Amino acid sequence: MDYSFQRYLNAKRTVDDRALNRTVWQTMLKQLEDRSSTQPLQVIEIGAGTGTMLHRLVEWGALKRGTYLGIDSDATNIQSALSDLPAWVEAQGLACTPAPDGFDLSGREFQLRASFQTREVANVVAKPGGQGYDLLVANAFLDLVDPSALLTQFGQWMLRGGLGYFSINFDGLTHFEPQLDPELEEKIIGLYHQSMDDRRVDGQPTGGSQTGRHLYNQLRASGWELIAAGASDWVVHPVSGGYPADEAYFLTHILHFFEVTLAGNPELDPLAFQRWLAARRQQIKDAELFFVVHQLDYLARWPFDDPRLPGEPLLPARPVQPMN
Ligand SMILES: C[S@@+](CC[C@H](N)C(=O)[O-])C[C@H]1O[C@@H](n2cnc3c(N)ncnc32)[C@H](O)[C@@H]1O
Repeated sequence: MDYSFQRYLNAKRTVDDRALNRTVWQTMLKQLEDRSSTQPLQVIEIGAGTGTMLHRLVEWGALKRGTYLGIDSDATNIQSALSDLPAWVEAQGLACTPAPDGFDLSGREFQLRASFQTREVANVVAKPGGQGYDLLVANAFLDLVDPSALLTQFGQWMLRGGLGYFSINFDGLTHFEPQLDPELEEKIIGLYHQSMDDRRVDGQPTGGSQTGRHLYNQLRASGWELIAAGASDWVVHPVSGGYPADEAYFLTHILHFFEVTLAGNPELDPLAFQRWLAARRQQIKDAELFFVVHQLDYLARWPFDDPRLPGEPLLPARPVQPMN
């Protein structure tokens, strides 16, 4: 089987569409409507992948006028986002003209510049001269980095009262049905979650397998005000003998993540692991597999009373209240 990370991200679109918490989304929509009534929106997305969130923001009515910049450290993702854009814009019934790193979208009430750049988040700098973003998006991203450090940095890029939409944050539960060998499966899933907790980037810890719940305190400690939060669980199941859209591939790629992460793990019997993978793959082919992952979405606001002048350094992080 040929695996493609870009195909995985595109297949994830319909799974995320169902999962994204509607209360959090609607709250964001209302806040954005208020902000965009006076000015075009400035939007940045970190870890934008193949650009599916831009599509969603437009298709679901959150973004019509302004600029969108998607950054991702993987050049293949960015190429895919850029090459898919003109056909998608056309399918929206909008005009598409080339612009630096992207395209201008126009027509109906739309006037939007969409650009994508291959860039590490560490190399993103605040806009000069007191400019900033109305909305920062990070979807299925914060478990891959050190959220505490980054959330403080994100604040420096925001306009006063700007919004952070931090969605699809993994929160420690992965489940497959129908059950096979529960003891083996508990071990496999436990080791997979452990690999997330052990992940280091440049020697620094990353969000890990409980990113979702930890974000609650991390957001507040880094100066963000929580506005809305809710569950955004992936639930993938067959319908009428098959999976919707490209979700069979999505499931197949999830098993691929398990295989590449855990192959050679001394705590797993290699034959038992291969048998488990084969049985789960067969369940996808037979449209039998049911898959659940628990995740959390957050909407937060960078304070209106942020006392910075343009170009001023970081706000000190707010201390978290101790439990007792
Ligand atoms: C799980 S994917 C999610 C992509 C997209 N947000 C989505 O939901 O389809 C995480 C993305 O973050 C990108 N990424 C990881 N570390 C990054 C970093 N340090 N700077 C920028 N992008 C990064 C990866 O290349 C990947 O595309």
